[in-house]
Amino acid sequence: MGEDSMNRLAGKTALITGSARGIGKAFAQAYIKEGAKVCIADINIEAAQKTATELGDSAVAVRMDVTQQASIDAGVSETIEKLGHIDILINNAALFTAAPIVEISRQDYDRVFSVNFAGSLFTLQAVAKHMIARGQGGKIINMASQAGRRGEPLVAVYCATKAAIISLTQSAGLDLIKHGINVNAISPGVVDGEHWDGVDAFFAKYENKAPGQKKKEVGETVPFGRMGTASDLTGMAVFLASDDSQYVVAQTYNVDGGQWMS
Ligand SMILES: NC(=O)c1ccc[n+]([C@@H]2O[C@H](COP(=O)([O-])OP(=O)(O)OC[C@H]3O[C@@H](n4cnc5c(N)ncnc54)[C@H](O)[C@@H]3O)[C@@H](O)[C@H]2O)c1
Repeated sequence: MGEDSMNRLAGKTALITGSARGIGKAFAQAYIKEGAKVCIADINIEAAQKTATELGDSAVAVRMDVTQQASIDAGVSETIEKLGHIDILINNAALFTAAPIVEISRQDYDRVFSVNFAGSLFTLQAVAKHMIARGQGGKIINMASQAGRRGEPLVAVYCATKAAIISLTQSAGLDLIKHGINVNAISPGVVDGEHWDGVDAFFAKYENKAPGQKKKEVGETVPFGRMGTASDLTGMAVFLASDDSQYVVAQTYNVDGGQWMS
């Protein structure tokens, strides 16, 4: 356990979707450091198992495809079997896509909305049912994005999924607070990692940029002076899962180095 740990999540359990790598993995690591037990839920079970092993005894892995209701239900049940109950959910799994408006395909629209929006809604629903039945409240954190704060010429579908997440956070937050369940969201800016390598490849294709160029450009425009890292987001994720955020309801917090103000 790190010296800076305050055990703010001692005795708590968390289900984090899409946490085999990237930001979700960093959240899992931070929660464990604060005393929680974490379920690494991911469509890529091999990667999830590898991550759980790396994180140690406080982590378990579960296969979950958030686009399939049966897989959500089975994954939530398996998490409860393995951890006893669920206090915290982070709806983190998402896919990125980009295309000019006239090239957007219905297939890509369905695929991305199905993971980013429907996946978050129905995982939230399954976990909320468990939390309501248990009667001890809970914390649900959705992953929004600066992409949900305003549109981008090549990013209509992904931006719309993240705007929908901000809206879902408001509605679910207002509906579930009577059960002691706080629903809030984190809105990151540009976060370095494998996800952004994929984003960079889309811009290389559509804006005719050299690989790595878009990533360099976006980093330079962040007021803080660089791209974010997954660990820049963990403080907010711990706060929103802890008792300190009891009176925080239906909010989306920008953690983006000053990119967006609201
Ligand atoms: N990286 C950024 O710059 C950035 C910026 C803003 C918001 N975000 C958001 O933060 C979250 C995490 O992003 P990241 O950069 O760590 O992404 P990532 O691509 O590195 O990780 C996403 C994970 O989700 C999993 N996944 C994909 N489809 C799934 C499915 N159907 N069911 C279950 N798991 C599935 C993948 O296997 C992967 O492990 C996402 O919601 C993303 O939209 C990221």
